[in-house]
Amino acid sequence: MSDFQFSPDLLPKHIAVIMDGNGRWAKRQGKPRIYGHRKAVKAVRETISTASRLGIKAITLFAFSSENWKRPEEEVSVLMDLFMTVLTREVKKLHKNNLRLQIIGDKTRFSDALQKKIAAAEDLTRDNTGTVINVAANYGGKWDITEAVKKIAAQVAEGQLQPNDVTEECISQQLSMSGLPDVDLMIRTSGECRISNFMLWQMAYAELYFTDLCWPEFNEQALLDSIIWYLNRERRFGCTSEQLQALMKK
Ligand code: IPE
Ligand code: IPE
Ligand code: MG
Repeated sequence: MSDFQFSPDLLPKHIAVIMDGNGRWAKRQGKPRIYGHRKAVKAVRETISTASRLGIKAITLFAFSSENWKRPEEEVSVLMDLFMTVLTREVKKLHKNNLRLQIIGDKTRFSDALQKKIAAAEDLTRDNTGTVINVAANYGGKWDITEAVKKIAAQVAEGQLQPNDVTEECISQQLSMSGLPDVDLMIRTSGECRISNFMLWQMAYAELYFTDLCWPEFNEQALLDSIIWYLNRERRFGCTSEQLQALMKK
């Protein structure tokens, strides 16, 4: 037995996930794409509960990109309905588990009912101290940076800020999730190796992990595998799956 002591401090503080491959997974089972979106909910639940048991500070899940409006109307509408249903069904459970839920992205394009549901969920869980669950919906990394730049430009125009005072820190502060650490580990499922306009600024130094599993197949073990990969990337060799499992039981 090695005397390697596994410290929770080594874990990624912020994990970002591009939940991809629902449609292809469903097609493989001979089912319509939306079947994959429905099955994706279980993977989301399992990922959140594992991250929370590990004591991860924040996890950001890419649910719908600024570009996903280009999909067929029927698929977009199913995704919106699913979002609404899941919010309604799961929020109490998140709250009971002391998790904080935040929806990041341009919410103005959502229906009034959905916007209200989002605001209520965020309010309910605002003071929770466990893992922060960010769901990126109608989110784009370029949108996020553009919004930050607009706010800074307004401050400059009003004379509150000089152009020379615009620093990286000042841009970071205006972005979504400004209170959270930058992303340490980014996971993308389904074998695609691209960022698809996810958090561009916050992922500047993230370790990028790509798995061939499609999102509906993703589970606790898959998340642990990605974290072990991350720990080894960080040259913190010797950690095992059992050590992570033990950490979750504490
Ligand atoms: C990810 O799965 C979910 C969303 C983008 C909403 P996809 O729907 O992109 O599935 P594939 O990539 O077409 O298989
Ligand atoms: C990225 O997946 C967005 C989400 C997972 C929500 P896409 O499937 O939309 O990305 P592209 O179009 O393949 O790059
Ligand atoms: Mg896709």
